[in-house]
Amino acid sequence: MIREFHHIDLRGRNSFGVAQQAARLVEFETPDDLRTLFAEGVPARWTVLSGGNNILFTKDYDGVLLTPVAREITPLDDDGRTLRVRVDAGVEWDDLVEWAVERGLWGIENLSLIPGKAGAAPVQNIGAYGCEAKDAIRRVETFCVESGALLTLDAAHCGFAYRESVFKHTLKGRVIITAIEIELSHAPCPKLGYGDVEREVEARGGATLRNIREAICAIRRSKLPDPAVLGNAGSFFKNPVVEASVADALTARCPDMPRYPAPEGRVKLAAGWLIDRCGLKGHREGAVGVHERQALVLVNYGGATGGEVIAFARKIQERVRETFGIDIDTEVNIL
Ligand code: EPU
Repeated sequence: MIREFHHIDLRGRNSFGVAQQAARLVEFETPDDLRTLFAEGVPARWTVLSGGNNILFTKDYDGVLLTPVAREITPLDDDGRTLRVRVDAGVEWDDLVEWAVERGLWGIENLSLIPGKAGAAPVQNIGAYGCEAKDAIRRVETFCVESGALLTLDAAHCGFAYRESVFKHTLKGRVIITAIEIELSHAPCPKLGYGDVEREVEARGGATLRNIREAICAIRRSKLPDPAVLGNAGSFFKNPVVEASVADALTARCPDMPRYPAPEGRVKLAAGWLIDRCGLKGHREGAVGVHERQALVLVNYGGATGGEVIAFARKIQERVRETFGIDIDTEVNIL
């Protein structure tokens, strides 16, 4: 079923809490809904607005926003070792994690409490605490805007990489994700290698699914602001991936700099650490600031416009470039 809204205030539909308007917003459930909608002709401007957790509106949106609202979680094949599960795009990601943990299914517990909906998970290949959505996603079901056909992509065709996928590039503006299929394991496969995870899990009595979920939730709550209290979109910047020689030169200057191995011999740096080292953690200008416990997160103290947030972000990027010679890209989708 389709629900239409016109000249709608987006404040409650973006976690940054910026007050912009959209000319039209359509909530849809099924691919048939999309077919009906696109039968009128493809709108000149449209985009998907899912949970609004990774988006910054810098002005009013004069096109059509499409919001998936279907919320079924459907178990598919079970071979005794793993279970395939089909998840509608409108399912809250963290509800899916809770669903899996309740049933003793392993694979996405480290992704506990990531805000947003399941259909958005493949777009930026959400990740945290040593795990990425691509580790569990097997297929992505999409509606192809040009043909009106359903197009299902195997994970191998999704171009998954650190905060990357084809949905941000070649398929951007061409398909709409309607569901994902994930594979979860009946056998325990705890991943405790990242940061404080092991210590927090041990403090709860060991590596059960429930303890891991609770440990991850506690770590996130201690560092990341709750968007319901303080407007934000999680990490505003991506961690930069640089050549080893660039990382080595910085390590020579700052031996305590965090660094992580990345594909092809490259090195991932911690943008939060770089911003922090520029002395910008907690820095505030008007209604916008760098969060005081995690420098990768920009926050709206109330009443900030998207334009103010982006102007502030540009200054942060500039400072990091001047101080370290490193470019940090935005992770958030800027509209
Ligand atoms: N650090 C600082 N100061 C800061 C922030 C970080 O010194 O203000 C240092 C930390 O001490 C640590 C390193 O930087 O040594 C990495 O920090 P952290 O473990 O907090 O992770 P991150 O790289 O800053 C990434 C993700 C987060 C995810 C965490 C945990 C990106 C862009 N962000 O942050 O994801 O929760 O790892 O896995 O990759 C998100 O995408 O919205 C998000 C919150």
